Parts: sequence; structure tokens; C-alpha cells
Amino acid sequence: MPAYSKLLIASSKGGVGKSTTAVGLAVAFSRQYKKVLLIDTDIASRSLDMLLDAEDTTVSDFADVIEGDDVKDVAVSVSPADDIDNLSLIPACSIDRLRFVSSKLGLTMHEAMRKGIESILESTDYDVFICDTGGGVEYACDFADLFDLTLVVSEQGKTSVRAADYASAQLEDAGAKRIRLVVCSFDLQAVKKEKRAGIIEIIDASSLPCVGVVPFDKKLQWIQDRGKLPEVNSPTTIAYSNIAKRISGYDVRLFEGMKSFFGKRHKIL
Ligand SMILES: Nc1ncnc2c1ncn2[C@@H]1O[C@H](COP(=O)(O)OP(=O)(O)O)[C@@H](O)[C@H]1O
Ligand SMILES: [Mg+2]
Repeated sequence: MPAYSKLLIASSKGGVGKSTTAVGLAVAFSRQYKKVLLIDTDIASRSLDMLLDAEDTTVSDFADVIEGDDVKDVAVSVSPADDIDNLSLIPACSIDRLRFVSSKLGLTMHEAMRKGIESILESTDYDVFICDTGGGVEYACDFADLFDLTLVVSEQGKTSVRAADYASAQLEDAGAKRIRLVVCSFDLQAVKKEKRAGIIEIIDASSLPCVGVVPFDKKLQWIQDRGKLPEVNSPTTIAYSNIAKRISGYDVRLFEGMKSFFGKRHKIL
């Protein structure tokens, strides 16, 4: 896969791992010495500031970009771990603020969101842009054509995989150029007990090429509630690093470096 730098994270369902993926990839690219800008467009349920322990440091937000403020001035520098110093965030604005700013500019809220994304992607200060969206592709469809890669996130369940296909069809209609699947919270134990679908089954059921699989980590919620990141050598961190490398054009196997978690490959297939 060639290298892509403008990434949109979407799904038709909420709570499937979009924001976790946005942060996981941002951290992975940042550790690969890229300057990364995270954009939170989830106006209903913004979370990136919390996941990055930056709640107290955010002053401006996405609505300021829509109003014409310089992207660099709005972006807040975040450092969720000691080895990360090239990561910035544009926090989401509230729906009330989006409504207010849109009407001030004589735009619909959808037009205003697109205007903001256009300004952000024009910025030459960053190597990688990662845009998190809310559940459902309502807003994502407004600006999907501006990104060069869309990652549709799904959980392991069959209904989630089917919903990912539906989201992908809508995004494609809206002009998304390349769409790939990311499977989150993949529970290997459940596959072994034949309770959940294995990777081959998921890939088979989806019309999307799969760019990565992120294992289920029962401690993740606890870690995220504290604004921390999973350990550098945890399977989750390695999974996002692998996805980032694949997006950068490197030939990395789906479960590279995750042997401790997955054991013998044939067991998960
Ligand atoms: N790989 C994973 N393992 C375990 N829990 C996960 C994983 N990825 C996400 N989660 C959990 O799933 C929930 C929803 O994740 P989130 O990224 O906020 O989803 P979304 O942005 O799609 O709503 C959170 O509680 C998060 O901790
Ligand atoms: Mg989210």
C-alpha cells in the first residue's frame, strides 16, 4: 500500500473503537517521528482531549478554525507519554457552538464542518492528519472526499462487520477514495471457544480490505479513564504501530510482533 497522510476514522456504530484507533494511530505515527495533527469532529461525544489527558489545556476548538483562526493557534500540543512530543489536537466544539458559528457565517452546520476540515488539511505544518468522527457517518460523509484514506472501524461481531460495510457504501457514495477495515477489540479467547468470528471469517464477510486487527485489552478502559496510554510493548500498541506502518507503505504482517498474544498463528485463523 502506498503512503497516506490524511486519514478519516469512521463507523456507522458508536462505541466500536474509533477514538481509540485515532489516538492509537496518532501515537504510533508520532513515535515514527511524524508531526501528527488529531482532529476531533465528534460534536456529540468528544473524547480525544480526555484520552490524551489534555482536558485542562484546551482553550480553542474546531469552531475557531471554522471562524478563520490559524490552525496552528487552535491546535493544542499534547504529550500523553514522555516519548511523544510531536502530537497536536484540535478539540471538537459543542453542537451549540457549531450552530452559532455556522449561522454567523451563513452556512449550514454541515457546510461549516467541511470548511473547517478544508482549512485544517491545507496546513503545511503536519505530516499526518487523523480525523475522528462520531458514530454514524452523517458528518463524515460531508468531508470524506478530502481525505486520502478512510478507516472504517468494526468490532468482531457479525452485525458490526455488516454495519461497517453499510458505512463504507455511504462513504464511497460521498466520495471517499480508499476505504479499509480496522477490526477492534478482537477477542482471541472467544474465537478459541468458537463464540466469536475469527479473522478469516471477518475478512470473508466484509467487502473491505482489512488493514489491521487490534486485540481486546481488558485493561484499556481503565487506562483510558486515567488519560494514559497502554504500555509500549502491549499488543494494542503494537497493533496500532503495525497499522501505521502499513499506511506508511511498509509490508508488515497483520500480527507482526504480537506472538506473545496470539501464539501459534493457525489457532486464530
Ligand atoms: N482494543 C480494545 N480492547 C478493549 N476495549 C477497547 C478496545 N478498543 C476500544 N475499547 C473500548 O471500547 C469503548 C469504545 O471505544 P471508543 O474508542 O471510545 O469508541 P468510539 O469512538 O467508536 O465510540 C471504550 O470503552 C474503549 O475503552
Ligand atoms: Mg469516539
